[in-house]
Amino acid sequence: MNRYSRGAVVLHWLSALFVLAAIGVGLYMKNAPLPPKTMFALFQLHKSLGVTALGLVALRLVWRATHRPPALPDGLAAWERAAAHGVHVLLYVLLIAVPVSGWIVVSASPLNIPTVLYGAIPWPHLPWFSTLADKKAWEPLLKAIHDTGAFVFIAIILGHVGAAVRHAVKGDVPLARMGFSFRRKDG
Ligand code: HEM
Ligand code: HEM
Repeated sequence: MNRYSRGAVVLHWLSALFVLAAIGVGLYMKNAPLPPKTMFALFQLHKSLGVTALGLVALRLVWRATHRPPALPDGLAAWERAAAHGVHVLLYVLLIAVPVSGWIVVSASPLNIPTVLYGAIPWPHLPWFSTLADKKAWEPLLKAIHDTGAFVFIAIILGHVGAAVRHAVKGDVPLARMGFSFRRKDG
C-alpha cells in the first residue's frame, strides 16, 4: 500500500492534536461561565496551543514541498479526487488563516494582554496591528473573523474526518495511508 512518509504522518497527527485541543479550549473559554482567573489561564493555553499549531503547519508545508504524497488508489471517481484535493488545500489555508487571525485579535486588542506560551515563553504581538489607531473600533470585526474562521474550520474538519471514515469503511482508501507502520520502506 502507498503511504504518507513517516514525517508527514507524525506532523499530521501532532497538528490534528493541537488544532482539536485549541478548538476544545477555545469553545470552552468563550462559552462557559468561568471565574476571571480560570478564563485568563484558558486564554493563555488556547493561544499556546494555537501558536504551536501554526509552527507545526509551517513544518508541514516544508515537509510537503520536499516529499511527494502517495498517489490516490485507482477506482476513485473524478469528483472524489477533486474533493479530496480541494479539502486538503482548504485545510492548509485554514491551518494558517485561523491561528494568524487569532494572533491579530490579541495583537490589536485594546486590552493589550501579553501572550506567554505555556507560562514560559513570551510571544510578541504582530507589529503593525499592535500600533493600530482606534483598536476598539476594529475589535468586533477582528474577533468575528477569527471566530467565523474557527467555525468554518470545524465544519471542514468534520467533512474531512467523515470522508476518511467513509473510505476506511468502504476499504478503497485505507486509513493506514496516514497511519504508523513499523515495517515499511515506502512513502
Ligand atoms: C484538526 C484535524 C485535522 C487536520 C487539520 C487534518 C489535515 C489533513 C491534511 C491537510 C491532509 C492532507 C495531507 C497532504 O496531502 O499533504 C490530511 C490527510 C489525511 N487525514 Fe487529516 N486532518 C485532521 C484530522 C484527521 C482525523 C481525525 C483523521 C482520521 C479519522 C484524519 C485522516 C486523514 C487521512 C486518512 C489522510 C490521508 C488521505 C489520503 O489517504 O490521501 N485526519 N489531513
Ligand atoms: C488552530 C488554531 C486555532 C483554532 C482552531 C482556534 C479556535 C478558536 C475557537 C473555536 C474560539 C472560540 C470561538 C467562539 O466560541 O466564538 C477561539 C477564540 C479565540 N481565539 Fe482562537 N483558535 C486558534 C488559534 C488562536 C491563536 C494562535 C490565538 C492568539 C495568539 C487565538 C486567540 C483567540 C482569542 C483571543 C479568542 C477569543 C475571541 C473572541 O473573544 O471572540 N486563537 N479560537
